[in-house]
Amino acid sequence: MPTTLLDTFTKQVMRRTTPYFPHQLAFMLDSPVHRALSNPPRVAEQLDLTGSECVLELGPGPGLFSVEIARRIPDGRLEQFDLQPEMLDKARRKLEGAGCRNVGFHSGEASEGLPFADNTFDRAFLSAVIGEVPDKAACLASVHRVLKPGGLLIFAERFPDPDRLSVAELRRLAEPAGFEFLDTQGNIWQDVVRFTRR
Ligand SMILES: C[S@@+](CC[C@H](N)C(=O)[O-])C[C@H]1O[C@@H](n2cnc3c(N)ncnc32)[C@H](O)[C@@H]1O
Repeated sequence: MPTTLLDTFTKQVMRRTTPYFPHQLAFMLDSPVHRALSNPPRVAEQLDLTGSECVLELGPGPGLFSVEIARRIPDGRLEQFDLQPEMLDKARRKLEGAGCRNVGFHSGEASEGLPFADNTFDRAFLSAVIGEVPDKAACLASVHRVLKPGGLLIFAERFPDPDRLSVAELRRLAEPAGFEFLDTQGNIWQDVVRFTRR
């Protein structure tokens, strides 16, 4: 994904009063343009789900990817964790509307720990989130704790999110936290970067 002059501009325009994407603007994440850029079915494929996994979605926002993920684990469970309860309400409405019942909703600050037991999850998915988290190392330490050894950590980072991280930046964060780089797939709009938990 290239860094462009538009990035600098976007960072200025989107400079916000909060360090996170405000729920009042959630409609932008659900817009047809954003949906086309992010291609949820294609990204969900990268989670390599077989049907019974336990998946953590950190920072689901209004749930752009959530239905795709929940439907791929009919015998598993999706747990969503987001700072903003208003975002979780939007995701919940979307999931319930799609008939997904295998989902839990949890609100909190990811830098301060995750309310799950050690080795709970087979997958952890973070789309356009880690760049907003104030203490990224603490967040990834918590993700490492709740992921099973051999579990997958999947990041999606995309233009024009002003907080997006490059593949190199993700590796600099995740590798010292105990994750091994697996692969990356992407186009000019979006990188999907996968690690396994050591
Ligand atoms: C830009 S939105 C991305 C939403 C969705 N994943 C997507 O790709 O469309 C970032 C989400 O992460 C959440 N978030 C940001 N910082 C967080 C933190 N420190 N702890 C938990 N959630 C956080 C925000 O509330 C927001 O819902």
